[in-house]
Amino acid sequence: MDDSGQQQVPRHVAVIMDGNGRWARARGLPRHAGHRSGVKSVRETVEIAAKRGVSYLTLFAFSSENWRRPADEVSRLMGLFLEALQREVADLHRNNVRLRFIGARERLQSDLIDSIAVAEKKTQDNDGLNLIVATAYGGRWDLVEASKSLAKKAISGELSVDDIDDDKLAAELSLAGIPDPDLLIRTGGERRISNFLLWNLAYAELWFCDCLWPDFGEQQFDEALAYYRSRQRRYGYTGDQVA
Ligand code: IPE
Ligand code: IPE
Ligand code: MG
Repeated sequence: MDDSGQQQVPRHVAVIMDGNGRWARARGLPRHAGHRSGVKSVRETVEIAAKRGVSYLTLFAFSSENWRRPADEVSRLMGLFLEALQREVADLHRNNVRLRFIGARERLQSDLIDSIAVAEKKTQDNDGLNLIVATAYGGRWDLVEASKSLAKKAISGELSVDDIDDDKLAAELSLAGIPDPDLLIRTGGERRISNFLLWNLAYAELWFCDCLWPDFGEQQFDEALAYYRSRQRRYGYTGDQVA
């Protein structure tokens, strides 16, 4: 049994950073101004997570379905990712953060793919906060890729179909080797998963807030942590068994 719920601070926090467009619209600004403003919240969240002792922070930056947005918004978002990555990587490295990306990387523009590879390599030996950015990521995509990988191993004889279990499947997912998120935070008022980490969120505590992502900061993060501490994680056991 995973006993991470006994901890005061979640080991792994996952965040659906939603509400940038509405934040901008409320100010009469174009949507991309909201995305730009959201980068500040990313920086702040990374700092607070490290300060509070979180080990893994996974941020949902762009979903498989976000490719459906107008080309101009997608291209501005990609430009912003590139700019933020190039600007922040030195600071992240100095702060001992290990940066990784998950998602269909081959669909990104080549300069972004290159910068991601450079950032991952530069920070690979850091042992502070593990920051994982989900870009062009979808939970269904992840499961499909894992299924393909298992099927290939079964066909090649490396793996017997009867040996496929939770652990074998989890080992093929993007977050292989990383503990499941203990706490999911979603800003922007929607109470849905939007194809984020479908497998890994199985037993995450869910915390939603109406605040828009550019308005998210230390106060909201601490509210989410307080909510987390108030939960009893049962994993199917009875409350008495867990207590
Ligand atoms: C989240 O904010 C950022 C991305 C999905 C890239 P949105 O852009 O979804 O903002 P809203 O939900 O339209 O306000
Ligand atoms: C989820 O937000 C994806 C990210 C935050 C990157 P969306 O704004 O795309 O989600 P839906 O479309 O409202 O479900
Ligand atoms: Mg949204």
